[in-house]
Amino acid sequence: MSRILRGLVIALTVCLGGPAISAAATPPQASECAACHGANGMGNQASGFPALAGLPSAYLQAQLAAFKNHERGNAIMGGMATPLTGPDMAALGDYYAALPVPAGPVPPALPAGPGADLAQRGDWQAGLADGIPSCDSCHGPGGAGVGAQFPRLAGQPAVYLAAQLNGWRDGTRKTGPLGLMSAIAHRLSPAQISAVAAYYAALPANTANGAKP
Ligand code: HEC
Ligand code: HEC
Repeated sequence: MSRILRGLVIALTVCLGGPAISAAATPPQASECAACHGANGMGNQASGFPALAGLPSAYLQAQLAAFKNHERGNAIMGGMATPLTGPDMAALGDYYAALPVPAGPVPPALPAGPGADLAQRGDWQAGLADGIPSCDSCHGPGGAGVGAQFPRLAGQPAVYLAAQLNGWRDGTRKTGPLGLMSAIAHRLSPAQISAVAAYYAALPANTANGAKP
């Protein structure tokens, strides 16, 4: 066998014998989480449980740590996160981050109105210093999420999205980089919160099927 060929065979053997390049292993707690967040990690619209599938692992881990130390106050998730260790949170974060987000369905008419305006253009009526930047400028077009910092909003339950914005306003959710969301939430009126929450809830979590919000 030529040297090159032998090299190839060794490389192939190493590849096949190496760690599986598949989705993260299912952590033992996931069956419990599935009761509310769904077996596919897509949450439950009717009950307002958020989807976790496809969110960045670092973001998910930070949320679990915040629930555990009560920097993000929620009775249900505080209880769920308390027994989790750092490695448990890492395994759960990796697991949910790797779950695929199903495409569509495309809404028959993409929502228009004050929620869409705020999401796409922001609100600068209060002037430059006190204005609200468009949500999509950080969360990505259609609220699809950007990188490890800016979670997806599209397709999350409206009641969940509104609760988060109110949580930053009333201090039950204290966390997040640079206080960005706290500052933004404090500038939103109750009417803006319900409009923008309804807007993102109506968008498909995965627009791979061609939906153009
Ligand atoms: C009994 C229902 C229930 C169970 C079981 C449950 N959760 Fe939750 N989860 C919730 C609710 C409700 C929220 C929203 C909390 C809030 O409003 O801050 C949430 C929020 C979260 C969030 C924040 C998502 C985001 O976008 O910021 C993460 C992460 C999470 N849960 C992970 C888990 C994991 C991991 C498990 C299993 C160990 C689990 N949950 C089990 C109900 C549940
Ligand atoms: C300057 C950047 C920026 C802008 C603009 C922005 N966000 Fe955010 N948003 C963030 C960051 C960063 C986070 C993650 C916070 C964390 O890590 O806890 C976040 C998180 C959120 C969450 C929580 C999602 C979840 O899964 O729990 C909601 C809801 C949200 N933003 C809504 C909005 C809305 C509505 C607007 C427009 C009015 C908006 N954001 C504009 C940066 C931004």
